[in-house]
Formats: sequence, structure tokens, C-alpha cells
Amino acid sequence: MYEHDVIVVGAGGAGLRAAIAAHEEGADVALVSKLHPVRSHTGAAEGGINAALRQGDSWEDHAYDTMKGSDYLGDAPAIETLCQDSPEETIQLEHWGMAFSREDDGRVSQRPFGGLSFPRTTYAGAETGHHLLHTMYQQVVKRGIQVYDEWYVSRLAVTNHDDPEARECHGVIAYDIKSGEVEGFAARNGVILTTGGPGQVYDHTTNAVANTGDGAAMAYRAGVPLEDMEFIQFHPTTLPSTGVLISEGVRGEGGILYNKDGERFMFEHGYANNVGELASRDVVARAELTEVNEGRGIEDEYVHLDMRHLGEERIIDRLENILHLAEDFEGVDALEEPMPVKPGQHYAMGGVETDENGETCISGLYAAGECACVSVHGANRLGGNALPELIVFGARAGRHAAGADLGAAKITTGKTDDTEPGEVETPVEPGAVEIGDEDAVADGSGATLVDPTRTVESALEAERARVEHLLEKDEGIQQAELRAKLQQSMTQNVNVFRNEEGLKQALRDIRDVREEYQDVYVNDPSRTYNTDLIQTIEMRNLIDLAEAITLGALARDEFRGAHWRQAHQERKDEQWLKHTLLSWNDGTPELWFKPVILEGAEKEYEPKIRSY
Ligand code: FUM
Repeated sequence: MYEHDVIVVGAGGAGLRAAIAAHEEGADVALVSKLHPVRSHTGAAEGGINAALRQGDSWEDHAYDTMKGSDYLGDAPAIETLCQDSPEETIQLEHWGMAFSREDDGRVSQRPFGGLSFPRTTYAGAETGHHLLHTMYQQVVKRGIQVYDEWYVSRLAVTNHDDPEARECHGVIAYDIKSGEVEGFAARNGVILTTGGPGQVYDHTTNAVANTGDGAAMAYRAGVPLEDMEFIQFHPTTLPSTGVLISEGVRGEGGILYNKDGERFMFEHGYANNVGELASRDVVARAELTEVNEGRGIEDEYVHLDMRHLGEERIIDRLENILHLAEDFEGVDALEEPMPVKPGQHYAMGGVETDENGETCISGLYAAGECACVSVHGANRLGGNALPELIVFGARAGRHAAGADLGAAKITTGKTDDTEPGEVETPVEPGAVEIGDEDAVADGSGATLVDPTRTVESALEAERARVEHLLEKDEGIQQAELRAKLQQSMTQNVNVFRNEEGLKQALRDIRDVREEYQDVYVNDPSRTYNTDLIQTIEMRNLIDLAEAITLGALARDEFRGAHWRQAHQERKDEQWLKHTLLSWNDGTPELWFKPVILEGAEKEYEPKIRSY
């Protein structure tokens, strides 16, 4: 068994930042990741980092834009922390040598992004995430932080108290992809989940195949609530054939969207009369699909994004990567012709419920980055707010887990006097097929575990048994078939435009997939680099997360941010200024709510009509 003070699971932006912060607090830290750090999905982030760095801008304006962008579902303490800490964290990256794009006078460049009232997005060409990863990985190497790369964490070691909020996390269990060994990792202080989003729940996504929401699903089954899972961001500009992202930076630099009649529809059809293409993503994605649905799309599928007028020099200087993506994945020379684009799944606003210090309601278990919901993005994330979230809340979680005193959090986790029960009528039973088959709580014997080492050992035994079972079973159904079914149903039924029947159909499909998963088997019997085994374990996570997304979407009968309901096309503040929470509840998912916090340190954010 390996042992460290702090174990960070996932080595993307949030994980690297958490590890550096915990190390700076004197902790013995390990990063455990199924990918090599610089192959993490953060590397695909193109756009930039929002930070109020310039004269004329302020963290307060950034906070206001973020709250408005969230459609008043973000929590003010989280938003204010993000906007206050982002400038310092961005300057820290600069001091670590990050290759930001610059003005002629040497200042770091900033450009406009959707929903921002000031051009405050710092960037490194259209490869900001790539540079961010490399910059922070260098710092990890420099500090000698232990990295276990190509180790897939597949189970948490959590005690089995009946009350989930009394449980404790003492480590993780991981599968060494290179050797096939399954090993325990004990964490003396804490485990930080930074495993990214669940994009693979959908079949048209900007997300990498590795984005299977493992941390969120494991935390959920261990007893941590998932928050606001219904809020999925569909990015307006993805390439139709692959889902590859075309950065919002193109529109930030002046790129224009046209329909098949050559109309600049964002203005001409009144979707966003003030800012047009630079409205927030939910608004632009709905506008594009409305154009297609009303017969003004190209090939009934997409619209055009044109950047030719920016000129070759500026494009090469600021957006060169976009030229390669358009050419390589769509065969389009974007200097000569417009690019085809359509909305695609991009980001999950919801995730593991945490406070501003990254703590969950299970002692010793933290989460940060896209897998967490703190909540800064509420019902819709602004472009350029994901990367600051990674570094701000990654750093806070790392420090806190290492023992630093960050002061009391204002956001609560778990059930309190302010929470209320919820109800949602479902066409099929959600949750586990067999109660008691959940895999995160360490010991199913009925005895309450208290000893940390025994907790890790017990989880290790359970995980070794699961892996052996999957490898020994030699017939049944393969995960690829189930994954395709799940992804297709989610893409069809839980997309930008949602209705009750579609959501119910998705729940039926998820139930079928869950039942079929009981008979899943791994076709590849080898022990090393067995991607079939890994994807089979990931598949279980996708099922639980797809169900959580859909249950939240069915429960929330209003239109807020990225969540649009055909029969409920209005924001209902009287009823819905609250977060949706879902607890696994040992296999019988339980819905409940907690109020949004609109009270900032010095002001109350008042919900207003949101227009751009
Ligand atoms: O469009 C983009 O470059 C993506 C940025 C983001 O998701 O923040």
C-alpha cells in the first residue's frame, strides 16, 4: 500500500494546482492520474482565463457578469472568491513562465468573451489550456511531487457509517494500467478529486474520451450529493463531424455567425441585439439550433462561423490553432471560407457539492474543478471562467487538505435546516439494480469501519474482487454497445431543448442500460494496458451520472440558463432560486434542494431579466 498526506486524483489544471498548493503547505503529496498530466483534458481548453487585471476593470464587475451569466444560480461567496483570487492566480502563472499572448507594449493581452462587460480573458493563442498544463507540470516536477501516471482510480476508501455525513475518506484504490496491479493509496490528510467532467455521457462533445466523470460518480456512490447536474453547457461552435471545439476566442476577436441565407442571425433575428455573437453560450447555442429547426441551417445541421475578415496576420497571431483544427477535422481552409459549426456538449456546471475550501460533506474528501460544484457557474458558465476555477479552487482545496486555515466557509455542504426534500415522478425506478451493490463504501459487512488502514484494505479487497470478476467473465454484453446506447439517448433527449417525454425516455433508456450492465464482460483478458477493462469500469460511472443529469432536468420545471423546458419557458424565481441535489442514498437516489446564496460580502445580487 502507498501512503501520502494528500492524494490528488486527476492531474489536469485543478489537480496540478492543488498538488502544488498542498506541497507548498508542507504536505507529502501524490498525484494519481489515469493519464500523463500533460495529456489531461485541460490541454484542450482553447479560450482563456478571466481575470480583472486592467485599469477600468474590477473583480466586482467580473462577479456581476458571472452572477448574471449563471442566471442567478451561482452562490455569491464562491463567485466572489473566484473573481477576487483570479488575478493573483493568473499573475502567479505568468511568474511561473506561462507563455501568455502579449500586446506590443509587453502587457499580457486580454480579449472579449461572451457575457463579459470588459475584455478580461487572458489567453495564450488558442491553446491556453495546453500552456497552463505545461507550466504547472513543470512546477510539479521542479518540486519533486510524486506522480503516479497511468494509474486509474476506480474506488474510494470511505468508512461505512449509516449516515453518509459521518463517513470518512481515508484513501483510494487504483489500477496500474501498465502492470495490471490493483493497489491501495492511503491518505493521511485527505483525498482531492480533480477528475474533470462527464462529457462522454454524450456522443457529440468537445470532451476527450477520458472524460467519464469518475470522481463525481465515485463520490456520489460514497454518499456525497451531486449538485445542479441538469445544467450542461452546449458550446455553440463545435465542428459538426467530430465535436472538436472552435474557440469562443474566434467570436471574441470578431468572428461572425451566418445562417444559410447569409443573415447575421444573432442580430437580424433578435437573439442578442446588443452584443450579437458575444452573448453567453446558452443564448448562442439556442439561437443556432432555432435557425436550423426553422429551416435556415446549412444542410439542416449547422451554421457558418466566418473569421476571414480578421485578416491572415491577426488570425495567425491569435488563432493559428483554429486554422489547423478546421483544416484537419473538417477540411476547411478558414482563411478562405467560413467554418461549419453547431452546438456540442462542452461542460458540466454541476458536480460534487463542495464549499469554497473544496470540502465535501464527507470528512477528508475534497473536490475541485469541473468535477465539483462550488457553485460559481450556476445555470450557465461564462467562457473563460473554467480555467480560473481550476486554479483558484484547486489551490484552495490543496491548501485546506494540507492543513492551512482558510477561515470558515460560507457555503454549507450536506443537509442543514435550510434544505428541503424534493420529489420527481419517474417512469422507471432509478438507482441501483440490486440494493447494496454500490461500490464506494468500504465494507458491506454491516460493521462500522473506523480504522483508516482497515478501510483502505477493505476497499482494496472489494476492488480486486470486482476486477477479477470482470476479467474472468467470458461472455455477456460489451461496454461499447451500452455506451453508444446511453450517449445516443442523452444526445437525443437531454440536449439544448428538453421536454418531459424526452427526459422520461432517457430515464427508461438509462434503466435498460443499467440492467444490461449487470451482464457486462471484458473481451480483452490481458492485464496490461487493458483499455476495455478501464472503459467497462468507466461505463458504470457514465450510467450513474447520466441518470443524475436527467433526474435533475426532469425535476426542474423552469427555464434557467442552459436548462430549457418546452412546457416551462420562463424562469421561476419564486420557486426555483435553489440548487438541485441528488444523494445516492445507498442505491435509491434522493432528490433535495438548498437555497442559492445571493448575499455577497458587501451586496446582495438581485435577479434581473437576463438579456445580452
Ligand atoms: O471557447 C473556448 O475557447 C472555450 C473556453 C471555455 O470553455 O472557457
